[in-house]
Amino acid sequence: MAEELIGNTEYSTYSFSELEEEVKDLIKKAEQACDTSYSPYSNFQVGAAVLLENGEVVTGSNQENSSFPAGLCAERVALFFIGANYAGKKIKKVAVTAKRKGESEFVPVTPCGGCRQVLLETETRQESNINVIIQSSYNQWVITKSTKVLLPFCFNKHSL
Ligand code: THU
Repeated sequence: MAEELIGNTEYSTYSFSELEEEVKDLIKKAEQACDTSYSPYSNFQVGAAVLLENGEVVTGSNQENSSFPAGLCAERVALFFIGANYAGKKIKKVAVTAKRKGESEFVPVTPCGGCRQVLLETETRQESNINVIIQSSYNQWVITKSTKVLLPFCFNKHSL
């Protein structure tokens, strides 16, 4: 099977204090984005912050709907906004954070399967790696080398 389908398993883990300032800043922006979540059904507030190659940061949050499948995850809100408004701008890093409504503590979260697929398509399309930054447990942060780390044996355009 071709390497691009298998993906790789390269990632590193850090405590918060070990992270680069740029990454800490991205995490903080993702945390702030949780405040814009519209999640009256799950009460689970997710924030995504995306660092573009020009240094700009674009954020997204989950937007739910009474017709449940019509809602959209924070990551896809941010990625599709970038696709529509920053065409051709490459993405360097994506940080994802979450908290339960009414609580101040952030909880570990990783992108859902659908968002992993969209992250992968974005990376494939821009032909350069995206680092995904997620909290895996208390004070433990994972930075992946590529989106493929989250989606081994993936389906992508090379499968067609
Ligand atoms: N959610 C996200 O925003 N991103 C993910 O990767 C996981 C799930 C949202 C969707 C829904 O609004 C809520 O979290 C509960 O599933």
